Amino acid sequence: MSGLVHATTGPGLDSISILSDDSFDERLPADLRVRASTFFTPVHVAECAARLLTTSPGTTVLDVGAGAGKFCIAAALAVPSCKFIGVEWRPHLVALANALADELAVPNVRFIHGDALDLDWSSFDSFYFFNPFAEQSDESEFRLDRTIDVDPDNFIRCVYGAREKLASARVGTRVVTYHGFGASPPRGYEPSREDPVHCRRLQLWVKTQIIMGGETYAELV
Ligand SMILES: C[S@@+](CC[C@H](N)C(=O)[O-])C[C@H]1O[C@@H](n2cnc3c(N)ncnc32)[C@H](O)[C@@H]1O
Repeated sequence: MSGLVHATTGPGLDSISILSDDSFDERLPADLRVRASTFFTPVHVAECAARLLTTSPGTTVLDVGAGAGKFCIAAALAVPSCKFIGVEWRPHLVALANALADELAVPNVRFIHGDALDLDWSSFDSFYFFNPFAEQSDESEFRLDRTIDVDPDNFIRCVYGAREKLASARVGTRVVTYHGFGASPPRGYEPSREDPVHCRRLQLWVKTQIIMGGETYAELV
């Protein structure tokens, strides 16, 4: 397993695993490799986010829009006592992510195919977003691939749907965004004072209270 270092810190302590960007990206098909730095979370950011998302062993994290699995795999290596699940609607990326997890022998990660908004989020403790829906509103030529249509209506559906799901999550739920997700989390979430100083553009939110009553569409924008 070139480029993958496993180091055990001592009896009873988690092992520290380090995956380099190069060692992950070189396993991608060439067309994805050139897009990796734009569309996939860098390893040091994933490790930082993983620690913000997990407060105790057994925490289960959902990566909303998992791509080729880079965030989940790097996070799972960094925090082996927790579970990282990625949901991704491009089936070829789900197959690739599961193959990479097997190749790198990462047991605490799994990728499932589907629209993230169709998934039941109630069993997850924490959520990670690397601006997953932006591609649908982005007219630029530089896209992950051409298998998903640009559709601003779908962008709104996804952002609003994600906020609705976060609104019904339990108190204590943690949300980490990297470059946001198109809106801020709903009422009841507070930006955390745990400042991820080494990872710019990461933001941690923690749900501190239940707000009764739904949000109106106007509150989204
Ligand atoms: C910017 S990439 C981030 C990939 C991964 N989270 C990472 O950080 O390495 C966003 C991914 O979200 C996926 N995506 C966007 N909307 C989605 C949805 N509604 N359901 C599932 N996947 C979605 C895209 O196909 C893309 O692979």
